[in-house]
Amino acid sequence: MGSNSKDEKILSAYEKAAQEGIDPRCIPQKLTSPVPIHDEIVYPEYTEEEQNNWKFLYNRQMSFLPGRACDEYIEGAKALNLSQDKIPYLKKISHVFQETTGWKVARVPGLIDVEDFFGLISRKIFPSTDYIRSKEELDYTPAPDLFHDIFGHMPLLTNSNFASFYQQFGIASLNATGIDRKYLETLHWFTVEFGLIKKPEGMRIYGAGILSSLGEVQHALSDDVEVREFNPDKIVVQEYDVWHLQPILFAIESFEQLEDGFESWTKRKKLL
Ligand SMILES: [Fe+2]
Repeated sequence: MGSNSKDEKILSAYEKAAQEGIDPRCIPQKLTSPVPIHDEIVYPEYTEEEQNNWKFLYNRQMSFLPGRACDEYIEGAKALNLSQDKIPYLKKISHVFQETTGWKVARVPGLIDVEDFFGLISRKIFPSTDYIRSKEELDYTPAPDLFHDIFGHMPLLTNSNFASFYQQFGIASLNATGIDRKYLETLHWFTVEFGLIKKPEGMRIYGAGILSSLGEVQHALSDDVEVREFNPDKIVVQEYDVWHLQPILFAIESFEQLEDGFESWTKRKKLL
């Protein structure tokens, strides 16, 4: 890693946005003390309004998912017992992860530094926030909150192929420097956040950025989107804009393809 330390810094899309005077919540924080993991996580005292915000977001978003979200996501949401009734308890989700794919949850204060993020992912620990967006931000929030982290990301972490791919992603990212880091960030965007999957019954969504966003969930399967085949070499050089609806998305054929395709790309790049 040391040989690249003198290279000019390659800014991530989020860092660039932050430099342009965007909401400070979008600036990743370096973790300075250990974060609570698994059984160490306590349930916050949410206000009634916060619980209502969850209920509203859950019901609204779920109403769009039949025929749009992939089965693996829907099954995962059931396994995690996500419901409108209550903001989920990260500790309980962590226990379901343990029983399914061996992952755990860590409670983090917000968007975290990439080194911290990759370090946790590579150890099969998913960093999640536990605060929810305010009533004024129900339609759009610039930085991840628990609705994005839990509703968007967590169901698929009960899927063994996806979970295995994601751990490999963390390991490869720790090994990557320079342009490879940027490539992996782009690949994360077009898979974990904005991925589609081609099913016999039609195109479906698995990306957390789509599944947790009102605008994206209605847009992603529309004719306004050009869907391209999964190909890591092409994905990593695809430009994207984090602040607008996505005009180009990539579709995998299966989660096995995602896992295997990513593994061979990273091995070729000597990142695994
Ligand atoms: Fe995310």
